[in-house]
Amino acid sequence: MIEIKNVTKKFDGFVAVDSIDLDINNGDFIGLLGPNGAGKTTLIKMLTALLKPTKGKIYIEGKEVGRNNNQVKRKIGVVPQHMNLEKELTAYENLVFAAKLFKLRKKDYKLKVEELIDFMELEDYRNKLSQELSGGIQRRLMIAKALINNPSIIFLDEPTVGIDINARRKIWDILKTMNKNGITILLTTHYIEEAETLCDRVCFMDKGTIFKDDSPSNLKNELGKYTVEYFTEESMTMYRYFQNRKSAIEFANTLDDKEFSIRELTLEDVFYNYTNRKVI
Ligand SMILES: Nc1ncnc2c1ncn2[C@@H]1O[C@H](COP(=O)(O)OP(=O)(O)OP(=O)(O)O)[C@@H](O)[C@H]1O
Ligand SMILES: [Mg+2]
Repeated sequence: MIEIKNVTKKFDGFVAVDSIDLDINNGDFIGLLGPNGAGKTTLIKMLTALLKPTKGKIYIEGKEVGRNNNQVKRKIGVVPQHMNLEKELTAYENLVFAAKLFKLRKKDYKLKVEELIDFMELEDYRNKLSQELSGGIQRRLMIAKALINNPSIIFLDEPTVGIDINARRKIWDILKTMNKNGITILLTTHYIEEAETLCDRVCFMDKGTIFKDDSPSNLKNELGKYTVEYFTEESMTMYRYFQNRKSAIEFANTLDDKEFSIRELTLEDVFYNYTNRKVI
């Protein structure tokens, strides 16, 4: 269980995270969605003791998160937004290096490294320098690295940014399996489809605050089931949301000769409706 209690982070006078309260339960798969600068990375850095809150406290399993709290750090794994691999080491050596940072004994980590190479399907890349791997494989290696100490919670900051759709779906499968195996997952993403597919809980974040926190289906149902998307004479795209197809069609029929489409409502519609801007 993770408890975030009234957490604020200021950089000089600027408030990056603003009085956030959030409880995350064991086994949750939770997505933080928000535009650039919303405060997602700052929140993750506080959750992983890389930054200290200006105000408020964070507890993991009842213990306060802090730089010197190794008991807490042993429970968590982190996949940061930016590459954290040793470029001059091979994939295999990167995992061994990570194990040594956690002071794992050789007889314990040898098996773990093999297990991770197998689970992340990294066998073909084990002897390649990490700088020579593609972005998608590097991400998989970063996730493997975050799992080296058998964490019960993992934080991933935009785990699939800039990688192709096949590599992304591979990572989705891995994350789903990890969550099924009991690992609590919090990820940030700009890809709303990613949150919709993976997460059982989604938090919308903007300007340092979380303004919505619910399951994807509840968030969508609040707004409707169908979206009519149409173009005005001024070439503006407009959206209207309906609870059933019949009323969507009735509305579309009133649009005269305007171009329109009717489709199922997505989580992206919900975010757009709240913020009036696309996430990416
Ligand atoms: N070390 C810092 N010093 C000053 N300002 C900072 C620092 N770190 C972050 N900020 C500011 O805090 C705000 C939140 O940044 P953060 O990186 O948490 O956003 P984010 O939601 O992760 O955005 P992105 O989607 O672009 O990764 C931004 O306005 C950023 O410029
Ligand atoms: Mg970020």
